[in-house]
Amino acid sequence: MPFLQNGFLGNNSSFMLDFVVSALVLIVPLVLFSLFLVKIKKNYTGHRNLQILLGIVLLAAVSAFEIDMIMQGGWQEIVAKREIPFDATQMTEVRNILYVHLVFAITTPFLWVLTMFLALKNFPSPPVPTGHSKVHKLLGWCATIDLVMTSVTGLFWYYKAFIS
Ligand code: HEM
Repeated sequence: MPFLQNGFLGNNSSFMLDFVVSALVLIVPLVLFSLFLVKIKKNYTGHRNLQILLGIVLLAAVSAFEIDMIMQGGWQEIVAKREIPFDATQMTEVRNILYVHLVFAITTPFLWVLTMFLALKNFPSPPVPTGHSKVHKLLGWCATIDLVMTSVTGLFWYYKAFIS
């Protein structure tokens, strides 16, 4: 499909790559808002609902992105559309940034699912602090930091691959 082959952010990327980049930008303020709900407002139900919604959006975006990558022949094919092509050194640099990004991107869904699964299992409905709070806070902060690092490194890779 031709419209899927070009991005909408004007960087010779792909539609899905631009979609995921937009999701990565949007997700950070949404996570911060969810933490504001739970920490400041003590709105545990709002926090739970927003985290579930974020989980679904993340899963949908990542699945669509993976399918798109396979359809477009991998990230190298997309990067090859650049107006000024990369030399071998630049290509290595972009690949290394991608590896760092993948460490965060691969661990985040596992941590996210584990945190969500244990929270839904151990907090009552509507949720309130319980004996599970200590474990949940630890897992929750790790999942949040992992997600933010996924976003930051992903956006840095996109910048290096398509904008710089
Ligand atoms: C992956 C999804 C989730 C993440 C990343 C997450 C993250 C967090 C974090 C970081 C905190 C601690 C805030 C602080 O320092 O005070 C927290 C608190 C809390 N979360 Fe989540 N959360 C998630 C899903 C859920 C779900 C699904 C529920 C309910 C079923 C839930 C219920 C709570 C409750 C009740 C607290 C307050 C605990 C307390 O203050 O004792 N969370 N969450």
